[in-house]
Amino acid sequence: MNELIDLMMRHRSIRQFTDEQVSEQDIQKAVAAGQMASTSGAIQSYCVIQVEDSANRDELVTLTGNQTKVARCGAFFVICGDTRRHRLIADRDELPYDTRCEAFLLAVVDATIFAQNMALAFESMGYGICYIGGLRNDLPAVSSLLNMPEGLYPLFGLCVGRPAQDPMIRPRLPQPGVLFKDHYPDDATMMAMVEDYDTTMLKYFQDRGAGDRIWSREMSGKFSEPKRMSLGPYYRDQGANLD
Ligand SMILES: Cc1cc2nc3c(=O)[nH]c(=O)nc-3n(C[C@H](O)[C@H](O)[C@H](O)COP(=O)(O)O)c2cc1C
Repeated sequence: MNELIDLMMRHRSIRQFTDEQVSEQDIQKAVAAGQMASTSGAIQSYCVIQVEDSANRDELVTLTGNQTKVARCGAFFVICGDTRRHRLIADRDELPYDTRCEAFLLAVVDATIFAQNMALAFESMGYGICYIGGLRNDLPAVSSLLNMPEGLYPLFGLCVGRPAQDPMIRPRLPQPGVLFKDHYPDDATMMAMVEDYDTTMLKYFQDRGAGDRIWSREMSGKFSEPKRMSLGPYYRDQGANLD
């Protein structure tokens, strides 16, 4: 272990924050660290919008499914895949901007790697973070609230602030369930690991007073029906070609 790995191993999402703001200096440090993440072919197709306006923060609480931490955290960011920059460059060079699903994926992958480096940098400065996938509940509304132009793909939010809670660390799958050598395991081996993890998680939920929850049952339920069906049409409207 080293200090960085120790920090990573201590990660837990923080959902309650003190009133302390996140200093501009710390924001700049974290964004700089995020920017130094690897980026596919140096394209850097991402950006981050810090939402400072308190009325907009309040509106985002509603849009994310009443997640009050969006307004109460020290700083709230919207992480976006950003293809607009490249579109403007293409316009300048009088070339078509004609990339397909690959360009969308590049933006999503790059933005996510950027965000995690940024999040880790915040954690290294003693802040707590929580990603907000609830941002995708109603992206057309988020988009018009924050004036997002064509080519911008809002992906998720990020709450940052000084922790006002000390939640338990959430166990992950056993490593043999995610790290394979040379080939993917057979289904029986995989399901044995799932059962193993269900036992670990059952204890975790019980210790937290969250009842007898079975992780794998929650997963099958979660993926048994389509969710957020407006995402495909929304990203297409923003200019994504998903073919
Ligand atoms: C992309 C993404 C979106 C998430 N969205 C939410 C969210 O909307 N609200 C929330 O409370 N937590 C959200 N989380 C936090 C996860 O629930 C959390 O990371 C997961 O349960 C593991 O717990 P841990 O981060 O404490 O280890 C999100 C995490 C990720 C990576």
